[in-house]
This record gives sequence, C-alpha cells and structure tokens, in this order.
Amino acid sequence: MRIDQTTIREILARTDIGTFIGTYVQLRKRGRDLVGLCPFHGEKSPSFHVHPDSGYFKCFGCQKGGDVIKFVMELEGLPFPEAARVLARRAGVELAEEDPAAARVRGEKEQIHAVNELAASFYHRTLRLGAGAENARAYVAKRGLRQETVDAFKIGYAPDTWNALVAELQSNGMDLAIAEKAYLIKARSGGNGYYDFYRDRLMIPTYATTGECIAFGGRSLDGQEPKYLNTGATPVYTKGRGLYALNVARRSAVDREALVVVEGYLDCIALHEAGFTNAVASLGTAFTPEQATELRKYSERIFVCFDADTAGSNATAKSIDTLGAAGCVAFIVQLPPGEDPDTFVRTNGAPAFQKKLDDALPWIQFKLDREISTILAKRLPPAQAAQTAETLVSALPRVEWDKWRVYVAGKLGLAIDDLRANRFVNNPANFAPRIGGGAGMVRHVAPTAEPPSVDREILAALVDEPALVAEFAPLIPSDVFTDERYREIYRSLCAAAATLVTASDVYAVLGDDRDAVERVVALQKTDRSSQIRFPDSPARRAYLERVVERLTEDDLERRFRELDARIDAAFASGAAISTEDRDEHRKLSTDRESRKRKRLGTR
Ligand code: UTP
Ligand code: MN
Repeated sequence: MRIDQTTIREILARTDIGTFIGTYVQLRKRGRDLVGLCPFHGEKSPSFHVHPDSGYFKCFGCQKGGDVIKFVMELEGLPFPEAARVLARRAGVELAEEDPAAARVRGEKEQIHAVNELAASFYHRTLRLGAGAENARAYVAKRGLRQETVDAFKIGYAPDTWNALVAELQSNGMDLAIAEKAYLIKARSGGNGYYDFYRDRLMIPTYATTGECIAFGGRSLDGQEPKYLNTGATPVYTKGRGLYALNVARRSAVDREALVVVEGYLDCIALHEAGFTNAVASLGTAFTPEQATELRKYSERIFVCFDADTAGSNATAKSIDTLGAAGCVAFIVQLPPGEDPDTFVRTNGAPAFQKKLDDALPWIQFKLDREISTILAKRLPPAQAAQTAETLVSALPRVEWDKWRVYVAGKLGLAIDDLRANRFVNNPANFAPRIGGGAGMVRHVAPTAEPPSVDREILAALVDEPALVAEFAPLIPSDVFTDERYREIYRSLCAAAATLVTASDVYAVLGDDRDAVERVVALQKTDRSSQIRFPDSPARRAYLERVVERLTEDDLERRFRELDARIDAAFASGAAISTEDRDEHRKLSTDRESRKRKRLGTR
C-alpha cells in the first residue's frame, strides 16, 4: 500500500531521530552529531553518526544511511510501509488506508496482536491473583522465579477449565474466529462454539522486537505431555523466525556487543534474572538462518549455550555454520553434563556463569575439537591424520592458520612440519605472494590473480581500528604492500596517522578517491567472501605484530644469507674472514635456529 508524502513528512516531523535511534544504540554527542557503534555491522570504534538537524543517520563504516524510516526498515527488516506504520503508531499519526486487500491482511494481523495481548494480560492476572492458580504460584516459586521477572516477562497461567479464555474474550467483545487463528482457542467438533487451547499451563508470551505479542509457550505443571505446548503457525508467527526475549535482549546486546543464545524459555529467563539481559532463546526448534540474520542485526558476537548432551552438541555445530553464514562469530559456552543454563545459574550463581562466558571456546576450537576426536577415534595413519587436519585448518580464515595448526598438531601428537608439508602441496591458497616484496627479496612463487591478501589483511586491521595506524606506521614499511593501490591507501593513512580515530576519519582521508573508498568499504565487509575477520582489538594487534615479526625475520634472514654467501666465498678463495663477520654470522645463525624451533613448536 502507498502512504502519501504528507503523512510521511508528518511521521518524520514528529519523530526525533536522535531519541528514537538512542533506544537502540548508545549515542554520544560529538559536535552537531550523535555518534555510536553501528548496529548494522560489528565495530569497536564508533563510525555511526546521527544528525538530528537533518534527520539523517549514516554509518561511515558500512555506508548504511538514510532517514528514521530507513533505520527501522534496516534494523527490523521491514518493508517501507510497515516501517512507516511502526513509526506512525509511535508518533500518533493516522494512516489513510488505500489498498483494501492489503488493509484486510494487516487488519487481521493487528487483530491477532490485540487478541494475543488480551490473552497475555488475562493469563498474567490469573497467575497473580486468580483462585485456582495456587499450584501455578507454587510452581513459579519452586522454579525460583521472582515477582519482578513474572511481571517483566508477563508470565501467566491458563486456568484448568475449558472456557475461561473464551469467556474473557467474549466479555471483551473480541472476534473468536481471530482468536482461533491466533491459536488461543479451538472450534468444538460439531461446530458449536470454542474451547481453550491452553489449560493448566504456565504461560510464557513471546514478543516481537516491535513490541507486539506474537506467540505463547505453555509449560505443563505436572509432567503432562507435551512439556511445552506452543503456538502453531499463525499470520503473525512462523516457527523458527522469532527469538524469545530478543525484544529485551537487543538493548543490552548493543552495549555488551554480545548475545547469548539458549534453548529454553526458562533458561533464558533464569539468565535475565542473573543479570545476563542479553540472553535469548531459540525456542526448541533447530536454530535457523532467519534467526541468525535476526541476531546479526544487534550483535556480531553470539555465545551459544545449548544443553550439554549429544543432541545439544550437534545443534551447536550446526548453529556455528548458520551463524557464520549470517556474518556472526560464534563462541561456545560449555556447561557440565546434565546441566542447562537455568539449573547451572541457579545452583552456581551469576559469577560462575560469567566465568563460563569468559571461557567460551572460539567456534574454530569447538569444531576442531570435534573433528580431532573423530580422527583419534578412527585411528588414522599419521600422514592421513595430518592431511585431514590440514584440510580443516586451511578451510579457516588465513590469519588463523598458524595458531590452529599448532593446536591441532599438539592434540594429534603430530609434528607441525607434517601439516605444513601437506599444506604447501595441497593448498593453492598458499601460493600467494609472501610478505616483504621489497628489494633484495626473493619471490618464491608467481603472484596469482587474487589480490594479495596480506595487503588487505593489514589494511582491514587498520581500518577497523584506525588508532593503530600511528602505532604501526613506523614498523611496517609501505613496500610490504605488493599492490600499489593498497600501498597508496596505506601511505595516505600513515601520512594522516595522528588524525585517525574512527572509521569516518579514514574516509575523510580518502576524500573523493572512489576507488580507494570502495576498496576500504570492501575490507570492512564482514561477509565470508572477504575472508578477513578480526573479532576484537587484541586479534588485530596480534595480527599486526605478527606481520612486524615476520618482517624482522625476513630482514635477519636476508642479512644472514648475504653474510653466509660472503663467508662461503672467502673460504673458497682462501681470503681472510673478519672477526666482526664471524661473530655476526654466529649470532644470526643461532637466532635463526631458535626461531625455526619456535615456529615448529618444538622449542
Ligand atoms: P527442554 O526440554 O530442554 O526444556 O526444552 P527446558 O527449557 O529445560 O524447560 P524446563 O526447564 O524443563 O521447563 C527446551 C525448549 O524446547 C522447547 C521449549 O521452547 C523449551 O524451552 N520445547 C521443549 C517445546 O517446544 N516442546 C516440548 O515439548 C519441549
Ligand atoms: Mn530446564
């Protein structure tokens, strides 16, 4: 349906963009702008600007920008009319209807939201005050739920009768056919009237991030099957789409730069009670790509904390791929066998769960551990094990190779050399140019058509955290860059190092050099194709330090070879060798040996 321009102008005029976006993103005033961390891509230094005077937002990192309607479209994944509607409702702007068919569908959705909200209030009131709800109140107490929690999550109780909700809906003049579509009541066979779908259950409503009540989970109090009875597919709810408590969690997710995903309603609620207000539940279904995409809007880092059984472990492995495909970085929280987050946090307390978060495994390690145990169980011959392991490692982003090769080799009791040997023979990705293309450097392999990834990795690290430019400019000479366009970008950044704080400063330096801007934008994309991803500041620093270390090594190696050749020649011709040359040669050769041992992990 179309919304006319006057209405749109009114919506925009009545919505203060700074206040509105401020409910999603923590904004700080800088000059005339408000600045914060972009909710659309993971970043550590703020490049997301809101300009209240003009009513526009713009992220200099991911280039997303527009008015407040565009913001809602992007963040909530809504089409334009729906986003405008959300803001109109908030700002009290009446929308004229134009397309009757679309209006009917939307009208029906709104009615379902309304009937759900009425049911949620009814269940909630019944739990708090209702006669016949004593068992439910005892159950709530037994589960350790606090009153504030019951209220905040609007937890309720569906009484043990066939028509309490039907009667409540009727006395409020609700359309029972809508309530049936909402999955709250069922038609009696024979066609005379309806009966309540949920009876004698603890009722947990799920809310959309836009605030509407969209579904319920009803837990049996007495072991009756099924344990949870859930809303089926309705016009406002599709299984595997929403996430429980995301409406609450998204706020702290942006601040904490992390979301915690658990399996169960009560796991999620228990974590909120313990202060982990960035927890959401995937609601029993397998974790879906839609859910991953939804989470990625609020945080790049996702802590997965599923039950510690085989099913949970398989679900975890799958969720890693699903999250990765959506551009998220997963961390795996491991609980003792037989525990779920609810029992764990209630028994051991919040600090113990925090410790589990701190100790969460990087997704790579979780996957490698699983594969390693398979390799060990299969008792493969060492060469085959090494080859399998190397295949795993080389599937990872390039910056991770060294670290995980050491890890895998250690676990399998193999020499790192064996993995490397396989890698060199088997992996074409390795035939990219080496660092240090400067004078005197022997290139081992021909450059490929691919842009040299070292160039792009260094720049990606610097653009993510521009303050690092000042620190590393003196350590990384620009001739490290093999591609002159990247070298130029690097030179401009170095020249302006002192002014670089946020990604927007980087773009200021690049000015209207479209090509450079596009290249830098591409580096900041966290999608898989770029293959470059630094989860945090220590990772960026570690990478750059490794580059510096490699450069130093390359220099020392070059010096050693020169000296070595000179001494060889002197020996051959019977000429004298100076004491200085001898001493330096000895020292360089010792250093070289120890570096080699260190690299191979034998020490
Ligand atoms: P669990 O069986 O692990 O239950 O199911 P739980 O979360 O620990 O629940 P409590 O602590 O016993 O109350 C995890 C999730 O799977 C969904 C629910 O969303 C539940 O929270 N589920 C489970 C269902 O939808 N139906 C069921 O019959 C069981
Ligand atoms: Mn449980």
